[in-house]
Amino acid sequence: MPQASPCVLVIFGASGDLAKLKLLPAVYEMAREKILPKDFALVGYSRTEMSDDDFRARFKHAVTANARSKKIGIDESIINDLLPKVYYRHGDYDKGEDFDRLKGFLEELDKKHNTKGSRLFYLSTPPTVFVPIVQSLGDRKLTNRGAAEGGSWQRVIIEKPFGRDLKSAQELNTLLLEHLRENQIYRIDHYLGKETVQNLMVMRFANSIFEPVWNYKYIDHVQITVAETVSADDRGGYYDKAGAMRDMVQNHIFQLMALVAMEPPAALDAQAVRDEKVKVYRSIRPIRPAYVEDSAIRGQYGAGEFNSGKKTDGYLKAKDVSPTSQTETFAALKLYIDNWRWSGMPFYLRTGKCLPDKVSEVVVRFRSPPLTLFQKQCESPVFPNDLIIKVAPEEGISLRLNGKVPGGAMNIKSVAMDMFYKTTFRAEAPEAYERLIYDALCGDQTLFIRGDEAEAAWAVIDPIEQGWAKSKTPPQQYQPGTWGPQDAMNLIEVDGRRWLHSSDDAEPMIACPL
Ligand code: BG6
Repeated sequence: MPQASPCVLVIFGASGDLAKLKLLPAVYEMAREKILPKDFALVGYSRTEMSDDDFRARFKHAVTANARSKKIGIDESIINDLLPKVYYRHGDYDKGEDFDRLKGFLEELDKKHNTKGSRLFYLSTPPTVFVPIVQSLGDRKLTNRGAAEGGSWQRVIIEKPFGRDLKSAQELNTLLLEHLRENQIYRIDHYLGKETVQNLMVMRFANSIFEPVWNYKYIDHVQITVAETVSADDRGGYYDKAGAMRDMVQNHIFQLMALVAMEPPAALDAQAVRDEKVKVYRSIRPIRPAYVEDSAIRGQYGAGEFNSGKKTDGYLKAKDVSPTSQTETFAALKLYIDNWRWSGMPFYLRTGKCLPDKVSEVVVRFRSPPLTLFQKQCESPVFPNDLIIKVAPEEGISLRLNGKVPGGAMNIKSVAMDMFYKTTFRAEAPEAYERLIYDALCGDQTLFIRGDEAEAAWAVIDPIEQGWAKSKTPPQQYQPGTWGPQDAMNLIEVDGRRWLHSSDDAEPMIACPL
């Protein structure tokens, strides 16, 4: 990959967890991969007072503790090359004089590091300060509304959550667009930076065997699970205002669904790909608030043990969570995409905290073969085929086929053909944030959310949230360490299906005596 062009990366919210766990390590990894520009500076900005040296120490610590390549050893010489380019400024997010100082400092850095006025501003802050920051940058012409001066550019990465409903997302878009053009706005969803998620498009569109069967005629249903073993106990302040639907479904799970469901784009560029994703959201059959419980299940974990011995007193007892909170820590959904490809075929989605496994995967279950051939003599119907796209923690693809068990008898067993990234490509995939920051440095918006896309996704979620808000049934409690509330099982089982999992026990052998 070519080196990105010279610039200053400014991280707002630099003292926070995301910077420590992901963003600073990503800068190191990009330097290691030699894709970070040679003429480069990094400025951390937040309210915490710190000197440049304090922040450099933090940078070093964040890299040593969290960089993905730490397994093979951190290269001190890369850190030492980077440290003189790392700076810190503290200030408020809405104080004019703090931004005046930041502006002056960035100009100094341009001279010192030859960064030519190009800047990537990363807003890793609470959403309440997105607009004040962009406004302060815009008022000081630090964003220039995309008017390139002498080849320079200014871009802004906006972290999630992007709004909390359609109205707030629209308002946020309007305010951002007062100071920025759409081609300067990089709304991030880190799932799109995951290698396996990008591979979904390659798998679908670079292989001709899938397209003819990729529709309701051959596929029985699609299910997407993003399960987590962690609790929300230490994030109550944020989580209680969000919940699983806003925190995971509206963004990460919807992105997975859109990549599975979209039509082939006319090109692999930002406009064509995002046009197709927007069409998917706009084709989703609206869930009417009054009928929400037929299609959307919510749960809340109670007290108990999860994740090999961790304990929780239950979500309602967590810090900064209201004891009467109705915020869901688990959500399951049944959706229909009413277009020519998917009409009448369900997509089942689920996510939750304190579940038994950390697993993100998409299961595409094909229709069963016609019964006549095997049914007459087999003790039960043969298994349908599943294509499983494993996003995390394993990364790969698994195709379940039926095979004859060797021997004189006619016995059939479901077997898996597996492709694992690690062993197939013998390469460590970059972390999502590395890929996404690099793309933003290069001006490629394909893996970022467009404004209308965010709004279209909220338009699907809004009626569900409204239905839940009016519902008299609170979220169903579930035992930590289990797969969520019973209602989530019922949601799929009433349709004669069940939740699937790549690590499910192998299906039993079916005997088909001749
Ligand atoms: C974040 C959510 O966006 O994604 C978290 O806010 C969640 O609640 C996280 O834990 C999951 O990301 P990943 O990459 O670990 O699946």
